[in-house]
Amino acid sequence: MKNIKIFDTTLRDGEQSPGASLNIAEKIQIALALEKMGVDIIEAGFAIASQDDFKAINKIAGKIKKSTVCSLARAKKEDIEAAYQAIKPARKKRIHTFLATSDVHLKYKLKMTKTQALRQIEKMVKLAKDKVDDVEFSPEDGFRTEPKFLFKAVEVAILAGATTVNIPDTVGYATPREFGELIADICKNVPNIKNVVISAHCHNDLGMATANSLAAVKNGAGQIECTVNGLGERAGNAALEEVVMALKTRKDYFKSVTNIKTKEIATVSKLVSNLTSISVQPNKAIVGANAFAHEAGIHQHGVLSKKETYEIMEAEDIGLKSNELVLGKHSGKHGLAYRLKNLGITLDKKQMKEVFERFKELADRKKKIYDEDLLALISDQLKTEEQKYSLELLQVVCGNKTKPMAMVGLKDSKGKNEEISVIANGPIDAVYRAIDRITKNKAELLEFSIKAITSGKDAQAEVFTKIRKNKRIYSGYGASNDIILASAKSYLNALNNSL
Ligand code: KIV
Ligand code: ZN
Repeated sequence: MKNIKIFDTTLRDGEQSPGASLNIAEKIQIALALEKMGVDIIEAGFAIASQDDFKAINKIAGKIKKSTVCSLARAKKEDIEAAYQAIKPARKKRIHTFLATSDVHLKYKLKMTKTQALRQIEKMVKLAKDKVDDVEFSPEDGFRTEPKFLFKAVEVAILAGATTVNIPDTVGYATPREFGELIADICKNVPNIKNVVISAHCHNDLGMATANSLAAVKNGAGQIECTVNGLGERAGNAALEEVVMALKTRKDYFKSVTNIKTKEIATVSKLVSNLTSISVQPNKAIVGANAFAHEAGIHQHGVLSKKETYEIMEAEDIGLKSNELVLGKHSGKHGLAYRLKNLGITLDKKQMKEVFERFKELADRKKKIYDEDLLALISDQLKTEEQKYSLELLQVVCGNKTKPMAMVGLKDSKGKNEEISVIANGPIDAVYRAIDRITKNKAELLEFSIKAITSGKDAQAEVFTKIRKNKRIYSGYGASNDIILASAKSYLNALNNSL
């Protein structure tokens, strides 16, 4: 069996998903959960992109012990220096540097000749290698690069010290056979390829990212770059849960294993969905709500007689348990801390104190607290960090004999309070209009969805919203037993993200 390294780029390419934006506290929790799941390399961000990105990578580097922490860097001196400074505290560090090599990128984006590109690759990989042992090079738009030039670029990068060469299908154009053949051709035509790991980085524009990544494995790749829930630029990247479960379920065919503890997949998927405020489609492979549901009578009958008739994996393989009771009103701090640790959540003292208070409030209102409730509570709590506006007051009157009215009070980061009452067509309309008035916001509400987190009439609700502001899209998440309160938090979160 070959060991395939899992390189997770949820915090870098994943964060480039339209609407996704994570604060530093959220990024840290995701990194810790990825490490607990067994991810080999965590691409924690793009250090030069912003001060927040730099800070997040730097903090993650200080906390992660087992996984390698990586920062992306263009093949530029200042990027490589920033990447190095950001990952410096990590036990295992990697710099991932890239330069586009396709004709269209060289001519129109970089305005470089091929000779100049090769020189730049050599110089910048060498510079990265002077700083860390573990250097990854990506010829961006590799799949659309003229093959001979791609082989040369890869050879030059290896000679300069790259230890992993990543072949991106940047625009999601490849088909599985072609991508597999390209990897096989690289193995044949690059003289020094045996000294390094070949990696695949596939985008999902035509829905083939997972298939292309697996074709790469079949033809010699030893690393797959992927994201949780398939998040990423445009249609996203190859989904971690799909590539990992495909390799596990079809071990007979791929003859490969990964270090991923698959029982963590469901929890990490939910955490990432809550924190990015991007919900998972119900029919999404592996982690969608319907992925293990059998609706047709003929299927149900088959599964009851013999599981294998219609099931190729078990829900337990990805850690799905049916609503296991975890905590209640009488649970204490230790019980809560134990459950959180099991979920891969590590909080500092102050955060733990706040979360415990909220847990107690929730337990007063809801008899049985499940893991899903805890993930919602943590996500909701993390979202209150680094926000410009916080919700101080919410009162709503509505019903069939009255005009819906909301009273909303917000506090801004300077401590200024403002309260306002609004009458509108519905209670949520009234709340959102009140928030808009206080914040002087001009966003358009594009999406609003509400879901019960668990079963039961006392279940918490989670609300996902999407807004458009200045031509950009922002997402929000909120959870509470009170659906209007969850709706208010979600909208305010999207709005705060836009600020
Ligand atoms: O899609 C891409 O080409 C990338 C590179 C930076 C690896 O994300
Ligand atoms: Zn990418």
